[in-house]
Amino acid sequence: MTRFALRSFVALVVCGALAGTAQAAGDPAAGKAKFETCTGCHAIPGYTNAYPTYHVPRLGGQHPDYVVAALKGYQAGERQHPTMHANSSSLSEQDMQDIAAYLSSYPLAKEANPISGNVAAGKVKSVACVACHGPDGNGPIPLYPRLAGQYEDYLTKVLHDYKTGKRNNSVMKGMALPLTEQDIADLAAYFASQPKGLVVVGHN
Ligand code: HEC
Ligand code: HEC
Repeated sequence: MTRFALRSFVALVVCGALAGTAQAAGDPAAGKAKFETCTGCHAIPGYTNAYPTYHVPRLGGQHPDYVVAALKGYQAGERQHPTMHANSSSLSEQDMQDIAAYLSSYPLAKEANPISGNVAAGKVKSVACVACHGPDGNGPIPLYPRLAGQYEDYLTKVLHDYKTGKRNNSVMKGMALPLTEQDIADLAAYFASQPKGLVVVGHN
């Protein structure tokens, strides 16, 4: 093998390896079947958690790495939610990867949802968030969740959870601590209002 050919060969192998890691580890078709038990809450538009009352989060189009991290958090009890703990407790790593691949395969929404808060005020305040979550709540980094099109009251609830420490994440705790009630409401309105965003599974 000439030196040039050798270099090309090495480059090909490296590219192949990179392409391999970039591919989703999960199987969307298997994930669809495994998601059946989740549809009672996550595939019904407008469905709410009983107490406290807030919408069950939209999952269609969410980043796969974030979905897996979230499920591991509920399974380990690091994220506190009894129902989600029960629903994630029997999932294997492969189950989580398959479900994440299925959820992330959903195309993003094309229309905005109705919003009750002040979107314009939230846009101004969102400058603190866009480095990680993207200017429209669709950041490209797989571990940073999409916020675009998420339910407004779920975003509000979660920002409170970070603030009080009910949901533990050092980065988001630092971001949420200085926020006032008004800031939280405005930011939730802004990200929830984005038309190109998350969808309720099976409803796109
Ligand atoms: C009884 C209703 C219910 C069922 C069934 C259920 N979930 Fe959930 N899920 C919720 C609620 C409520 C939350 C928000 C919990 C919180 O506040 O942390 C949630 C949160 C999540 C999140 C985190 C979303 C985010 O944006 O951080 C993921 C991922 C998830 N569920 C996946 C699943 C999967 C996969 C299943 C089935 C194996 C499932 N859920 C079954 C109600 C349910
Ligand atoms: C340095 C990066 C970074 C910045 C800046 C940042 N976030 Fe986050 N955000 C994250 C990460 C990482 C997570 C996932 C944490 C977890 O697993 O709980 C997250 C999660 C969230 C969630 C939970 C979403 C869900 O589906 O449950 C909300 C809401 C949120 N961020 C809002 C904001 C807002 C509003 C701002 C600006 C005030 C902001 N973030 C700034 C990194 C960041």
